[in-house]
Amino acid sequence: MTRTLEDEFESATENAALVELLRQRIDAEGVITFHDYMETVLYHPQHGYYTTREPMGRQGDYLTSPEVDPIFGSLVAKQLQQLWELMDRPARFDVVEQGAGSGLLARDILRRTRRRAPDFADALSYRIVDVSSSLKRRQAETLAEYEVEWSDDLPQKIDGCLLSNELLDSFPVHRVVHRDGQLMEVMVTHENGRFEEVTGPPTAKIAEYFADLGFWPGDGCVVEVNLQAVDWMASAAQALQRGLVLTFDFGYPAKELYAPWRRDGTLLCFYRHNPSSDPYARVGKQDMTAHVDFTTLMRTGESHGLETTGFTTQSRFLAALGIGAGVDSVAKESPEALEEYYNRRRAVQVLIDAAGLGRIRVLAQSRGLAAPALIGFVDQTDG
Ligand SMILES: C[S@@+](CC[C@H](N)C(=O)[O-])C[C@H]1O[C@@H](n2cnc3c(N)ncnc32)[C@H](O)[C@@H]1O
Repeated sequence: MTRTLEDEFESATENAALVELLRQRIDAEGVITFHDYMETVLYHPQHGYYTTREPMGRQGDYLTSPEVDPIFGSLVAKQLQQLWELMDRPARFDVVEQGAGSGLLARDILRRTRRRAPDFADALSYRIVDVSSSLKRRQAETLAEYEVEWSDDLPQKIDGCLLSNELLDSFPVHRVVHRDGQLMEVMVTHENGRFEEVTGPPTAKIAEYFADLGFWPGDGCVVEVNLQAVDWMASAAQALQRGLVLTFDFGYPAKELYAPWRRDGTLLCFYRHNPSSDPYARVGKQDMTAHVDFTTLMRTGESHGLETTGFTTQSRFLAALGIGAGVDSVAKESPEALEEYYNRRRAVQVLIDAAGLGRIRVLAQSRGLAAPALIGFVDQTDG
């Protein structure tokens, strides 16, 4: 794709319709929470980032694991196949993928299953849940040759796996400051043609959130609280009848996420693969993301009847599923495969990079399975 200077300028500026919409809302309400600002910027149905931009991939703003190489989806498929076997090969096995981006993870799971495990392919019923109308169109193109269904909400009674990759870290977050024994919430106002931050009393559930954790963020720290992820976990747990909730996301256990030395939280913005910490730049044209609190996710799942079965890093998960062997097999195929071998090796390094995608956490929560020995978690640690 060739970009003109005009394209560059157009994409680097903000989305004017979105700014106007936010300005009007702030005029009407006085201030809005950072959460409401982020929600509008990312997910407004007409003007939001996820509707108007090409978010992920090399041409987009950030790279996710399925965009790096099909080996990621292929190894996830191997884990799903083992789960199906542990569940005694039911005639129907649901995979519900929430937040499917461009649909590559679905494609690679379905492709590997069709080629390598026809019995499992016959049982597999794949459904995508996504909020972005433009990404749903993109998914339909990617998946034209596979049988996939779509819905706007999580279906009830999932027998199989509820899967997501970098869904929760894309949810809008509340930002909270702890100062002198008080929690205050970051609010957004608009003055002199610019968005500005002020603080106000926190949304009611935030104090409860830290009371449940049993500690507060360090004094002077700004942190993110992802209340939507907690609600999502509760509905995910209720939807899962038998099988696994398998979640890949950037995040930490709460003690690490809210450590006193992490003064400014984890909120990051991405524009064409360049990170920045300014959520008020390029409004609607850059991604925003914040790391997830896995302690609260595990506890929420447990309080709704799920068992925490595995928690590890993506690099360990992929290693346990044989990512190294996948590369070697390419090399053995033929001398002409050498280029592919080097490409694949580079992709593997990106997927397991301890400073990048490899530090994504993988959480497995189960219902109705007796202590399942999942291949991806044999070498698990608490992260
Ligand atoms: C960061 S992208 C990740 C996409 C994909 N999983 C990948 O790894 O490339 C987040 C995805 O979640 C979707 N999404 C965000 N909030 C959602 C929600 N509440 N329900 C369903 N999908 C959602 C977005 O439209 C997008 O497809």
